[in-house]
Amino acid sequence: MTRVAVIPGDGIGPEVTAQAVKVLEALGGVEFHRLPWSANHYLTTGETVPPGGYDLLRSFDAILIGALGDPRVEDNRHARDILLGTRFELDLYVNYRPVRLLAARLCPLKDRTPADVDFVVVRENTEGLYVGVGGRFKPGTTDEIAVQEEINTYKGVHRIVKHAFDVARSRPRRMLCMADKSNAMQQGHALWQRVFHELAGEYADVTIRHLFIDALAMMLVQDPRPFDVIVTNNLFGDIITDIGGALQGGLGMAASANLHPGRTSMFEPVHGSAPSLAGRDEANPIGAVLSAALMLETLGRREDAARVQRAVESAVDDRALTRDVGGQLGTSAAGDAIRDRLR
Ligand code: NAD
Ligand code: IPM
Ligand code: MN
Repeated sequence: MTRVAVIPGDGIGPEVTAQAVKVLEALGGVEFHRLPWSANHYLTTGETVPPGGYDLLRSFDAILIGALGDPRVEDNRHARDILLGTRFELDLYVNYRPVRLLAARLCPLKDRTPADVDFVVVRENTEGLYVGVGGRFKPGTTDEIAVQEEINTYKGVHRIVKHAFDVARSRPRRMLCMADKSNAMQQGHALWQRVFHELAGEYADVTIRHLFIDALAMMLVQDPRPFDVIVTNNLFGDIITDIGGALQGGLGMAASANLHPGRTSMFEPVHGSAPSLAGRDEANPIGAVLSAALMLETLGRREDAARVQRAVESAVDDRALTRDVGGQLGTSAAGDAIRDRLR
């Protein structure tokens, strides 16, 4: 039995997570342990992650999470503890975000087919601008000073860039593009440059390329064909994976894995809690379902992961989809459609 912690979270999180659970239940061999950590839980109990919560998460084989974010929690405190806190505490340093177009008609770019949009973003997930180092001086006054430091460590940059080289080596095209902003940020991003070129020497079979992040963002919407694996820092990876979502037909299609190879890892769709869609049975569950497939693959259940992937592809072919991707179904019926196509 695979033991999975499920954190449905906020907004559309519970609705899409229920579809991922439904598909996993049909496959069998997974035992779910539901955790109520969310905005509602925080607003009623004052608790984000309970004492011992991260240790509890470590006791599972994997974590499936919906989305966190609620307009009632203005400072996003619960999401920082539950989502970012888990990334940091469990040291899930790889945010693996595949961008695969499943049907030409879903792509916002003209004349692009699935063969043209097939790359993966390897996003650094434990440092950069996300660490919350900094502070505010004279807050609330016209003299306010806000400092938000970007942290780049040799260890952190080395392990993510090395992981990206390994991912590139495992793919047929063996291409790795590193994106930074070393032209403007000459301290931290010089470290990325150094590490990238150091490691390139150990991966002579991988074709390397460097782009500044602004140019990469432009190229992704102009023509994503030349991209195979992209490695970048935490914030830039966040932004370009929303572009990646759009290239696949919308954020509802995009899946991700927060990994520490060999340890308990966390799987979540790229999208957020989409408050305006919550409770309406409208959200697209595919990002959540494909994240569950990434979980199965990571746990070594490759054939089951492939079954889920094929079921999603078949639902896309049959237009058994939610409205955001041109279908007519509600969230739950779209989940049923995927489950019914498992072979
Ligand atoms: P969002 O991803 O929730 O929504 C952006 C847009 O995409 C909206 O138009 C939404 O309707 C659409 N969308 C998103 N998911 C969809 C789906 N499954 N099906 C159909 N359409 C979908 O981003 P936002 O509006 O910037 O953020 C809302 C809240 O979610 C915020 O509190 C934010 O912090 C949070 N958030 C959480 C996560 C996460 O938990 N991993 C990720 C992103 C944003
Ligand atoms: C994501 C989200 C999170 C991030 C937010 C909710 C903090 O946008 O997982 O892409 O920025 O990492
Ligand atoms: Mn994001």
